[in-house]
Amino acid sequence: MAGYANHWAMGSVVKQQLASLTNLNAEDFALIGNASKGIARVVSSVDWRVGDNTVVADVDYASGRFSLARLTSMGVENRVVPADDNFIKIEDLLAACDAQTRLLYIIHVNAHTGQRIDLKRLSESIDPNVVLLVDASHSLGVMPVDGNYCDFLVASTYKFLLVTHTGVLAWNQRRNMGFNPLSVG
Ligand SMILES: Cc1ncc(COP(=O)(O)O)c(C=O)c1O
Repeated sequence: MAGYANHWAMGSVVKQQLASLTNLNAEDFALIGNASKGIARVVSSVDWRVGDNTVVADVDYASGRFSLARLTSMGVENRVVPADDNFIKIEDLLAACDAQTRLLYIIHVNAHTGQRIDLKRLSESIDPNVVLLVDASHSLGVMPVDGNYCDFLVASTYKFLLVTHTGVLAWNQRRNMGFNPLSVG
């Protein structure tokens, strides 16, 4: 049983470290298979209705774009915002949102261009009813990531966190977004 206890103790240490990297609480974190599973879990937690829409930039990561595109079969429109010369403008993302927008997925530091999104500005400008799902796979571990500026944070661990291929999912419970994913564990 010592190994089992050590396993959970190590998980707690890791969550504490993730909390200190993100200004979130250790209790907000789950250690999961990979970032893509975190995206899918967050997407599955929304009670989608016909006529809802989602917003993503065309240069954002495939796992986010494809998860959202999959929702079209449920009558959810996926609004893919063209990045102007590979540069994502926050005002373009906001302009794509309306009263039916339920979720916006964005990479904190873009994998293709290195552009860093101003999360503070985005989170303070977007309707608080829109789930703000931030992918910090290319920033966590190498630069400040403030999890207060999103509802959910995902990251892969094999990049700047220098770990093997697992994933991180954080639910910022200080904000009012509920979380009832279709899968557990
Ligand atoms: C923005 C972003 N998110 C996530 C991932 C990796 O996701 P996963 O942990 O599911 O392999 C990548 C891989 O290149 C990425 O660029």
